[in-house]
Amino acid sequence: MRVLVTGGLGYIGSHTCVELLAAGFDVVVLDNLANSALAALDRIEQIAQRSLAFIEGDIRDADLLDSLLDDYEIEAVIHFAGLKAVGEGQQQPMLYHDVNVAGSHVLLSAMERAGVNCFVFSSSATVYGAEADIPYVETSPVNPSNVYGNTKRIVEMMLADLCQPNDSDWSVAVLRYFNPIGAHPSGLIGEDPRGIPNNLMPYIAKVAVGELQELSVFGNDYSTRDGTGVRDYIHVVDLAKGHVEALKFLAKKQGIEVFNLGSGNGYSVLELINAFKDISGVAVPYKFAPRRAGDLPEFYAEPSKALQLMGWKTELDLNHMLADTWHWQKNNPKGYSAE
Ligand code: NAD
Ligand code: WQD
Repeated sequence: MRVLVTGGLGYIGSHTCVELLAAGFDVVVLDNLANSALAALDRIEQIAQRSLAFIEGDIRDADLLDSLLDDYEIEAVIHFAGLKAVGEGQQQPMLYHDVNVAGSHVLLSAMERAGVNCFVFSSSATVYGAEADIPYVETSPVNPSNVYGNTKRIVEMMLADLCQPNDSDWSVAVLRYFNPIGAHPSGLIGEDPRGIPNNLMPYIAKVAVGELQELSVFGNDYSTRDGTGVRDYIHVVDLAKGHVEALKFLAKKQGIEVFNLGSGNGYSVLELINAFKDISGVAVPYKFAPRRAGDLPEFYAEPSKALQLMGWKTELDLNHMLADTWHWQKNNPKGYSAE
């Protein structure tokens, strides 16, 4: 089966390409390199020992999509391409709606014209928002608290509408990721944020290699076991494998299904810092800082639906996540930009 992977050179997309190639899928990547590097392409092929097709272009380019869906005889699409920085989304809401919402609409419309109806969507646990009880179940109330989360929610609604007619022949999996961290165990691909990282794990990794001085821990007065925020971290390789299982699931199923992809375990910021020290031998200097606006104290997944319906669950624990992050960061202190 030939799969189009939008955003396939990005953090999660690159790891998913590796797992798709290993599972025997043919892969075509469409990426505009807005937040990725061409060097990732060679690295994916090096790990997988197989080649893939790469097209540099934008998901909002309808003509390009029409021709590539046709030329490559695409049978399914995994849609990673988008913008994901929560703060930037608050500053530039129209940009986020353009890329994430309008971009998804252009892509789905092109798929409709081409008769391609198998779709896997990168959604986020951020859609649940503050009102849902933890652990989050797929049926928990959805009420995102920021622009980025709204764009994910809107695309989820678009997909539900697309699958709603009785004669719809779409097969759609909405995957709500929890907090992806880690890197490929080869150390060849990993997360390479531009500028100062927004997220905890890449920030810790950059302090550990001396690129940043000190971590700010946002809040130590939450009602959690040590006062710092608790999240469900998931190894990016486990997450990538979840996409392969989703494609296999969709081959046998029509309609739309929503899945949490998380481990079901929560770790605090301080637990992550301490576990990182045990694994890497590097004590990351940190200071306590005020809470970050919009952060929730604690959330983690109830992941059993993915196990029941797709046979997928996480296999790699926090130690693997931290060891693989460190391996990638040590080998590539400047990410892909050294190439
Ligand atoms: P990423 O930024 O590393 O990857 C996104 C890729 O899409 C990049 O390679 C970028 O160049 C490309 N891209 C952006 N706009 C594009 C456009 N208009 N046309 C073509 N390509 C474009 O991000 P990621 O962490 O790999 O996330 C992938 C997806 O998963 C995103 O949709 C994100 O919202 C979602 N997600 C990520 C996380 C996370 O914590 N990383 C959590 C939940 C959901
Ligand atoms: C984790 C914990 C912070 C940075 C975000 C998006 C979400 C999803 C994943 C895309 C929190 C604390 C962080 C720092 C800190 N992305 N922290 N110092 O906020 O759970 O989720 O990424 O879909 O939509 O919102 O992840 O890694 O930013 O934060 O103390 O410098 O680390 O307060 O408790 P978050 P994160």
